[in-house]
Amino acid sequence: MPIFTNSTGWILATRSTAYALGLNDAGALTHCYWGPRLPDLADYPPPPSPGGWSSFNLPAQLTPEEFPGYTGNTFIEPCLKVTFADGVRNVVLGYVGATILPGPVPTLAITLEDGFYPLRVTLLYRLYEAYDLLERAVRIENLGTEPMLIERIWSALWHLPQDGRYRLRHMVGRHLDEAILRHEPLSEGVKRLESRRLASSHHHSPWFAVDRDPAIDLGQGADEGTGEVWFGALAWSGNWQIAAEVTDFGSTRIGLGLNDWDFAWRLGAGETFTTPVSYAGYTAAGFGAMSRCWHTFIREVILPGARQVQKVFYNSWEATHFDVDEASQIDLAAIAASLGVELFVLDDGWFAGRNDDTAALGDWRPDPHKFPHGLTPLIRRVHELGMAFGLWIEPEMVSPKSELYRTHPDWVLHFPTRARTESRHQLILNLARPDVQDHLIAQFDRLLTEQSIDFIKWDMNRNVSEPGWPAAPGEPREVWVRYIEGVYRVWGTLRERHPHVVWQNCSGGGGRVDLGLMRLADQFQLSDNIDPTRFLAMQEGFSQIFPANTMHAWVADLPASHLSLRFRFHVSMCGILGLGGHLAQWTPEERDEAAALIAQYKTIRTLVQFGALYRLRSPQRHAFAAVLYVAPDRSEAVLFAFRTHLPAQTRLPPLRLQGLDPQRHYTIEGQPEVRSGAAWMHLGLHLHLDDFASCVVQIRQV
Ligand code: DGJ
Repeated sequence: MPIFTNSTGWILATRSTAYALGLNDAGALTHCYWGPRLPDLADYPPPPSPGGWSSFNLPAQLTPEEFPGYTGNTFIEPCLKVTFADGVRNVVLGYVGATILPGPVPTLAITLEDGFYPLRVTLLYRLYEAYDLLERAVRIENLGTEPMLIERIWSALWHLPQDGRYRLRHMVGRHLDEAILRHEPLSEGVKRLESRRLASSHHHSPWFAVDRDPAIDLGQGADEGTGEVWFGALAWSGNWQIAAEVTDFGSTRIGLGLNDWDFAWRLGAGETFTTPVSYAGYTAAGFGAMSRCWHTFIREVILPGARQVQKVFYNSWEATHFDVDEASQIDLAAIAASLGVELFVLDDGWFAGRNDDTAALGDWRPDPHKFPHGLTPLIRRVHELGMAFGLWIEPEMVSPKSELYRTHPDWVLHFPTRARTESRHQLILNLARPDVQDHLIAQFDRLLTEQSIDFIKWDMNRNVSEPGWPAAPGEPREVWVRYIEGVYRVWGTLRERHPHVVWQNCSGGGGRVDLGLMRLADQFQLSDNIDPTRFLAMQEGFSQIFPANTMHAWVADLPASHLSLRFRFHVSMCGILGLGGHLAQWTPEERDEAAALIAQYKTIRTLVQFGALYRLRSPQRHAFAAVLYVAPDRSEAVLFAFRTHLPAQTRLPPLRLQGLDPQRHYTIEGQPEVRSGAAWMHLGLHLHLDDFASCVVQIRQV
């Protein structure tokens, strides 16, 4: 059992890391340790009981509390803020007891209660020992007879070792330009990242990585292969917040949870509220090890279809946009099948009245002009061609020009006295409402029951405005959370009823990529940007946490581009390969080349989708970039290298491989020698690539 107790508290040990907490002399539940697993239980420090500093800074302010309520004069970012029925806004939590629940995922539940008000808080810690990850969540109960209002409740506060100097790595971006990495020093104050968009968003992402600057202020720290990194994420697809705080006394902590902006939750008598979960981990082996830790965990624990190989797909959106019909789609399907595509996806434009983006969302039946016999003939043909059939839907949205909106104008998020702001000519259905959820479940359940659909692309093409819920039965500001719970319920129910369907998560590309939806969706669309050099950069950003078998990137048409088809394919082959070009307009030579590249992908995709990823050179920082995927048993690997533009006469640096067995010997395609893994990793190999060229190189143990 990896949860140990000692005289003051608990040590939660995973395979190679440990996290300790306990009760200090003042009885406060205090963080003690987070880092490498130590040999003896006695090695872990006791809970700190700091003295005060002056009358302006009392001991409580210097104590690294595990889950501080808003109280006293601590002035730090609290995890919990509640207003009681009498108007008191002050939470004083005291330790009551703890329970350890054994099992495959052992759990420690620590109960805290307010000394005066009937409020119980349970901190839940679950240990994924083999994955070196810890999960935290919080349950809060109203034990009294009067309601209370929760105004902030975070899932976790993750404390870093005292007095370190840290840098925060996170992701920024926007629609068409997702997943740009930032890395910045943390200093006194609060660095806040958040979403207020009702989706986790293209702009920031609910995860963090923090590395330690070993030489204070030199700006050095971890890199891909070395250095200490603490990392975490929130499994939530709506408004979230990360607050990276460095206190005036040098304590660094990262709080994360639901965004408290415009949030309130009325907790009635006897009611319970449980937060989304936060996962976190530690490694001493740099950002690469961090990512591989996430990848294994996501593949084996989070993803619903673990170890399912993702098919090579064709999606006709970039080729035909809304201009779809039975004949043209069958033509495209036939070409796709001849190239070796395994999944054909019909995107937007297939449903009644959908000729552009101004109408029809909500009316989910085939357009009678485009598909006079419904979708059945197309689906049958796609299956006859040996491919699976996929369909695009956008369940959460409604067009004002639709039957659904005419029947239920009150079903959208809105304030009755305000105009309803449209975005892409659409409004958002209020999925906080159970009747709206039931309607969507019934609609799509029928579609999936009546049609032989193997794959669904679930899109979401706008963010929120006027987040009103006029007929809310209780506190309308609960809408932020109830909406996302509604999405999870609709998606989860459909998934349960149609277990053979593979689900793709898309929100104008990568606008809602998070661990919450990853429990329901098998893969996500990286971006609406179709430029492969941007895909490359985004793959690096998203791969910080998400594995290659979740990342789809398609090869689209780039008419005036200097990028070859081969380069474009190679980029998409770094994840789930897909095609999005107008295949009917491709030349016979292009189709032959595409067929050969698809065949090549099929021989390496298990390695790509399930191998250990090593980012050898960053495309966000270098014009010569490379990634390597190594088989779990290290018997083979595949290397991708890309050169964009570098001055002529540039000598490319050697690519030093990683992750091979130093003792075993390997051959590398295109290299005459057989060498030890140690040699390939220390000396590397020289590649010769021209501008805008790429290569895929197979590596095999001899
Ligand atoms: C946005 C998606 O990202 C695109 O791939 C496409 O599905 C369009 N929506 C369709 O409206």
